[in-house]
Amino acid sequence: MKLLVVGGAGYIGSHTVRQLLRAGHQVVVFDNLSSGHAQALPPEVPLIQADLLDAPSVKAALEAHQPDAVIHFAALIEVGESMRAPARYYRNNVVGSLNLLQAIVETRKVPLVFSSTAAVYGTTDAVPIPEDAPLHPESVYGETKLMTERMIHAFHVAHGLPYTVLRYFNVCGAAPDGSIGEAHPSKTHLIELACLTALGQREKMMIFGDDYPTPDGTCIRDYVHVLDLADAHVLAVEALVRGQQDAATYNVGLGHGFSVLQVLDAVDAVTGRPLHREVAPRRPGDPPQLVADAHRIVDGLGFKPQFTDLREIVQTAWNWHRTHPHGYEQ
Ligand code: UFG
Repeated sequence: MKLLVVGGAGYIGSHTVRQLLRAGHQVVVFDNLSSGHAQALPPEVPLIQADLLDAPSVKAALEAHQPDAVIHFAALIEVGESMRAPARYYRNNVVGSLNLLQAIVETRKVPLVFSSTAAVYGTTDAVPIPEDAPLHPESVYGETKLMTERMIHAFHVAHGLPYTVLRYFNVCGAAPDGSIGEAHPSKTHLIELACLTALGQREKMMIFGDDYPTPDGTCIRDYVHVLDLADAHVLAVEALVRGQQDAATYNVGLGHGFSVLQVLDAVDAVTGRPLHREVAPRRPGDPPQLVADAHRIVDGLGFKPQFTDLREIVQTAWNWHRTHPHGYEQ
């Protein structure tokens, strides 16, 4: 099948493009390259460099390429920045998604897979978190993702648009050959920061709180490998196009978590360069545990993660960072 991948030059998008091609599908990428990288795409993949806020260009892309489905990754993703610049986040994430939805229903009404986030749940006592847990996002970022989920559902009700929403937990790792990986302009993610620290780009790793009610006192997260997440998109879009699903929402995670200390131990073991660590105060807004209840996607789509060993996950991230210490800018 032929897919339009919006935001396909970003971290998760580019890994998904790779898995879609491996599964035998054709891909066209639509990306404004604000945080994506053309180098993350295989040369044979057409890249439309355009913005979702430019509504005519979205419609033109759908009309020109006639895809069988759309996968939508394009979003601003920094929680802290979203609190400082809410207008940018509402405009880019919500209005951009609205333009895409409108263009889809005005052209081919093809199915949509949407990148959402565990941030839609906010702080919750549920461990693990099922999809029907209360939705109380605590950041503008999470709010924009929830608003988009709701818009998509409204388009389903009003126009019959088939969709699948995937709520990601902590995405990490890279293609095992180290050719593509995580390269965000600002670095906040634990595994990426730890790898860059091991490369000497930072002096030490801060552990944000060691007095949480968890076995070792540090926060627990569900670290899902980016290629497993990419495969979840392949499964989701294939099921939609085959007509086996038409309005589903899934968590994507392993269903179990690792603590900050377990992650740092794995990074030490993989890199062979023990990190200097310092315990710092808790980071505001960090819940003690965020772990997916992943049963629904296992049962509904046959999702079967390949990367379940923490060291193996970290090894793939290290392969990328070691060979691309400055990301795509060498
Ligand atoms: N952490 C540290 N030191 C660091 C960086 C992170 O101790 O230098 C800790 C954090 O406090 C947290 C854990 O490592 O406990 C993971 O932090 P990340 O910043 O890597 O990821 P988050 O869990 O904060 O957030 C990520 C995504 C969100 C998404 C969420 C869902 O960035 O968009 O996962 O689980 F909503």
